[in-house]
Amino acid sequence: MLNIVVLVSGGGTNLQALINAEKDGKIQNGRICCVISSKPGAYALERAQQNGIKTRVLNRKEYPDVASYSQAVLAALQEEQADLVVYAGFMTILDESVCSAYPNRMMNVHPALIPSFCGKGFYGLHVHEAALEKGVKLTGATVHFVTAVCDGGPIILQKAVPVENGDTPETLQKRVMEQAEWEILPRAVSLFCEGKIKVENGLAYVLD
Ligand code: GAR
Repeated sequence: MLNIVVLVSGGGTNLQALINAEKDGKIQNGRICCVISSKPGAYALERAQQNGIKTRVLNRKEYPDVASYSQAVLAALQEEQADLVVYAGFMTILDESVCSAYPNRMMNVHPALIPSFCGKGFYGLHVHEAALEKGVKLTGATVHFVTAVCDGGPIILQKAVPVENGDTPETLQKRVMEQAEWEILPRAVSLFCEGKIKVENGLAYVLD
């Protein structure tokens, strides 16, 4: 059974999708052992507590820079004996020391089809604002491994979602979450725990 540590910063609907999947037996060979939040009041913490999952707060505002914050997160991940680290709406950048301690063992869900609308500054609602400004007809979500390049690691799963006339960033975000993120994040986590993801030459492959 692999130890899954989930990193959060906000509402935690993706965390909830993971909790539900674990309860429904849809995460093979893994259990969420700890949720770490970069913000003290994040609702995601309550979701974890309601489900008996250990929580920790590492308040980003209490650390002077990315390096000292990364050190603190790395120490916590090691204490929790993390086998897999999942960014589920984690809005804080960590430096290379964390990525290189968990190569192809950290994954992130991004609310667009990478390489569109990703990288620095593209997070949360901003991603959907940019998609609407461009007038794309399809957007979606991506689960990828985390590397030192923001949103640049090997892509594990993607799912497309249509943009509809009259969409606002909020309606589009809701559709992308419901139809894509909440489905592909738990699936990617289970695939990882089952040993069904292989990375070769910087590309990820799902094994049948
Ligand atoms: C989700 O849409 C997630 O994909 C996005 O923030 C939202 C968090 O919602 N993450 C990013 O933009 C990271 N670059 P949640 O807290 O309800 O899961």
